[in-house]
Amino acid sequence: MGKKIAIIGGGNLGASIADGLIQSEFSRPVELSITRRNLASLSRFAEIGSMVHSDNKKAVRESEVVILAVKPYNYVDIIKELKPILNPKKHIVVSVITGVWIEQLQNAIGKPVPVIRAMPNTAIAIQQSMTCLAHAGTTPSQLNYIQQLFDVLGKTTMIDEKLMDAATVLGACGTAYAMRYIRANIQGGIEIGFDAKTASLIAAQTVKGAAELLLEKGSHPEQEIDKVTTPKGCTIAGLNEMEHQGFSSSLIRGLVASYNKILKD
Ligand SMILES: NC(=O)c1ccc[n+]([C@@H]2O[C@H](COP(=O)([O-])OP(=O)(O)OC[C@H]3O[C@@H](n4cnc5c(N)ncnc54)[C@H](OP(=O)(O)O)[C@@H]3O)[C@@H](O)[C@H]2O)c1
Repeated sequence: MGKKIAIIGGGNLGASIADGLIQSEFSRPVELSITRRNLASLSRFAEIGSMVHSDNKKAVRESEVVILAVKPYNYVDIIKELKPILNPKKHIVVSVITGVWIEQLQNAIGKPVPVIRAMPNTAIAIQQSMTCLAHAGTTPSQLNYIQQLFDVLGKTTMIDEKLMDAATVLGACGTAYAMRYIRANIQGGIEIGFDAKTASLIAAQTVKGAAELLLEKGSHPEQEIDKVTTPKGCTIAGLNEMEHQGFSSSLIRGLVASYNKILKD
């Protein structure tokens, strides 16, 4: 039997986590409690045996792992509600709430409950997330368990919590940057002759293949570029023109702008 897991806030991210845990068989549906106030969108979980309701206290009382997946402005009220129920000897709290630090959560809880902070991205919906994890007060076995949980939803890495804003930019905003890169490829592809559907397929699968090359072979991007760039060929002509137009520089500057925006807010 796996641990009982409460997902507090079954919205986009909370429901994606539940989907992934069930599809990967990390959890059986009956081991999951999923809460939100408007339950209509969670009926598919209730149909397969998960507990679906709006009673956060009941969900936490019946679980060992508590995943907080509510919006940042909701967390204070939710913790206030759960505080009397949370038990340091029983519960592990996992927060995916952007911008809320472990210390803030621990102070709000007011008890030494182990807390893990996770920063996944939207590809968690298809179990292809990159999830950065930071922790405080957890035992190695608790940490191992939570890492295994997110491993079934994609790939994970442990980071120092002070890098969590950087992880938000590179790992979560990164999905949007990649989408814009792919969209530009589609626009270019249409201009040189493809219909939109074919251009989308070629652009998306090419980017997926390029990423898989790096992940599977552990090579550096420039090594893979060397394999495609024939001297005096079309690839290097295109790449150099992109660089003259500020390609790498604009990406780096965009990334840093996102990071500075987080720091400013
Ligand atoms: N989406 C992402 O890819 C992503 C990535 C990294 C981090 N995050 C973070 O994850 C958190 C959730 O994001 P999201 O996109 O999933 O937002 P979301 O779709 O709005 O989900 C939040 C859910 O919380 C529920 N909720 C609000 N008050 C509640 C309460 N008192 N009790 C129980 N449930 C309650 C809401 O449903 P009701 O209104 O029906 O109660 C809603 O379904 C945010 O903090 C976000 O910053 C998201």
